[in-house]
Amino acid sequence: MKDREIPAVIDRLAGKDKVRILFVCLGNICRSPAAEGVMRAKAEERGVAGHLEIDSAGLYGGHAGELPDRRMRVHAFQRGYSLDHRSRPVREADFERFDLIVAMDHSNYDRLRAMAPTVEDEEKVVRMIDFVKGFPQCDCVPDPYYDGAEGFELVLDLLEDGCVNLLDHLEV
Ligand code: 4NP
Repeated sequence: MKDREIPAVIDRLAGKDKVRILFVCLGNICRSPAAEGVMRAKAEERGVAGHLEIDSAGLYGGHAGELPDRRMRVHAFQRGYSLDHRSRPVREADFERFDLIVAMDHSNYDRLRAMAPTVEDEEKVVRMIDFVKGFPQCDCVPDPYYDGAEGFELVLDLLEDGCVNLLDHLEV
């Protein structure tokens, strides 16, 4: 497994008054809306939510308009997160609007980098797993869609770890 490294783009964002973060997965009904909910809650706990704009989107638009998958909402709710995002596809304009585009797995990462209109925009695309301190057995935030309860719990474990560490690095 490749060693995890905090991507260099984070240094350029540290201390910025407002940081715009877009979490991206395939369907935008499991991992990325959960990441959005976890990040918002962690930012609110720290009193820094006003310094962040947080959104999520998917590379596959087939679930557009839907709430997160019921299983994801149930597992998140058990940890105190209420997920009410409506799925939407990633748009080219997202690369201009957002400072950081956080991919859940390698396929998401490669597709987002290929979509980026400019080299600067390409550098905004990072992997969620690079912010995760624990879970050495994981090299991405795996798609839980065809898994049981443990897949959804693992997604939340990874996101809680990664979001806290991402917030530490952003210094908002
Ligand atoms: P997500 O999970 O990318 O974490 O939202 C998936 C949800 C739906 C599908 C794939 C992954 N799907 O193919 O419909």
